[in-house]
Amino acid sequence: MNPTQEKLKVQFEQALVAAFGADFAAIDPILVAASNPKFGDYQANVALSLSKKLGKKPRVIASAIVEKLDVSQICETPEIAGPGFINLKLKTTYLEAQLNAIQADSRLGIPTAKTPQREIVDFSSPNIAKEMHVGHLRSTIIGDAIARILEFQGHDVLRLNHVGDWGTQFGMLIAYLREVYPQALTTANALDIGDLVSFYRQAKQRFDADEAFQETARQEVVRLQAGAQDTLHAWKLLCEQSRREFQVIYDLLDIKLIERGESFYNALLPGVVEDLEKAGLLVENQGAKCVFLEGFTNREGEPLPLIVQKSDGGYNYATTDLASLRYRIQQDEAKRIIYVTDAGQANHFAQFLQVARKAGWIPDDVELVHVPFGLVLGEDGKKFKTRSGDTVRLRDLLDEAIARSYADLKARLQEEEREETEEFINEVANVVGISAVKYADLSQNRTSNYVFSYEKMLDLKGNTAPYMLYAYARIQGISRKGEINFENLGSNALVLEHETELTLAKYLLQLDEVISTVEQDLLPHRLCEYLYELSKKFNQFYDRNQGVRVLDAEEPQRTSRLILCDLTARTLKLGLSLLGIQVLERM
Ligand code: ARG
Repeated sequence: MNPTQEKLKVQFEQALVAAFGADFAAIDPILVAASNPKFGDYQANVALSLSKKLGKKPRVIASAIVEKLDVSQICETPEIAGPGFINLKLKTTYLEAQLNAIQADSRLGIPTAKTPQREIVDFSSPNIAKEMHVGHLRSTIIGDAIARILEFQGHDVLRLNHVGDWGTQFGMLIAYLREVYPQALTTANALDIGDLVSFYRQAKQRFDADEAFQETARQEVVRLQAGAQDTLHAWKLLCEQSRREFQVIYDLLDIKLIERGESFYNALLPGVVEDLEKAGLLVENQGAKCVFLEGFTNREGEPLPLIVQKSDGGYNYATTDLASLRYRIQQDEAKRIIYVTDAGQANHFAQFLQVARKAGWIPDDVELVHVPFGLVLGEDGKKFKTRSGDTVRLRDLLDEAIARSYADLKARLQEEEREETEEFINEVANVVGISAVKYADLSQNRTSNYVFSYEKMLDLKGNTAPYMLYAYARIQGISRKGEINFENLGSNALVLEHETELTLAKYLLQLDEVISTVEQDLLPHRLCEYLYELSKKFNQFYDRNQGVRVLDAEEPQRTSRLILCDLTARTLKLGLSLLGIQVLERM
């Protein structure tokens, strides 16, 4: 509900009480957006819903309400329509006053959260010694946007990178490198991530084929967990190699994260198992320690166990998540923990969260949310791969987006017969390329799969980053052309007349509601949709035929319209920044 609706609601409550008595306090006026602008802006359906209770015709109830209703500050005189709808049309003076207030506010009238709290966003989280893949790209982009929105709302956000930096795979990798390339374990920078990934692959092959090697690898894990100097050193070097490579991606995408990988929780794992035992949840099953789950069964229809400690003493992904969950609740004092991973991990989250809940580890005031997302598909509808069928390196993917946006820009400049410096072209190509990848991901409902298409995401038309950036740059172009400083337009100067001005004005006032919706449902595409709609409404307002003149309008309209331009640009800039997208003054 937006602030206007909230105010109207209060007025309705007073009217209901005045008309029908105190029992009618707190009744929902059932205020909805009008189905057709012809009927105004809002419609209240409360008279219909009260008809039975009061034993009166809805129209009679509606008149009784309207008689007591004082919305004169906000709306024109309410009208009763059809069987008893109350139609409300916002006053132009009200819209002007609202926008005047927003114009003066660097947050564009968006209040911070009423109860700011510690929130954790667990996102990106690639695995050491493996390449970061498109799934991690989605997690990184979506998680970052969510974190930015929560930060803007004034929450105390901890951005955690739960990297996979622990476990049996390191025993295997270290044992293998000891044989084939021991320098890698003692010298920094001896490997780049490409080598590391291929060594990892070879080590895995060896592990699967050779029993003796399996034993060596296991011993290496034991040595690692016991903290043996040389193994630990080797492990650290491997982590650093990967970390450096991840950092390249984070820098390109402008992502800030605190690394707190699985290894961080290593010492806490035995405590998890002990406490599950104390809670009476632990069952031994063929040497493994597990907790039986409700609502999950195996193929045979038998109850499914969640293994928290394997028969060889090792711990699982879920055990680490149980440990990290406790740490985040107890030490970090998080009130909401948000996990951003592919939808394929939904069962994992449902399972360990069920165990934590049963163990009584989750206080009532702590909310845990898995934020799942769909797959990235190629244009053929299959899993996104390179032409040769390999997984796409993120570095290459981002470089290609930039290269293509560079080529597009060169072509456009030629067409427009514009001369620009190489520095300008590079800067624009970079911003557009990266924004295009981010926006293409964020503008889809994250729960569905999305088709990765450079062509679509770089298109200047449609719900794309270039379109949004262009809308912003176009408005800045108006200020350049008219030599107008948007910051010096004066205050309280809005006069709204034309239909397209009113539509744009009303839409500008809705950012608030959109942001608080995203704060709740964690679906950033709603913000993209809003920004896209806003650009379209701006274009209608600025359109020669449908809209109004701006630079060559008379005063006071000229200034008023320039303020609308500025407010639109500022809204776009703020909205895009919350998506992790930087604007360009010119492009
Ligand atoms: N490293 C995992 C992967 O690549 C993602 C970790 C997500 N976070 C978590 N707390 N489980 O799939």
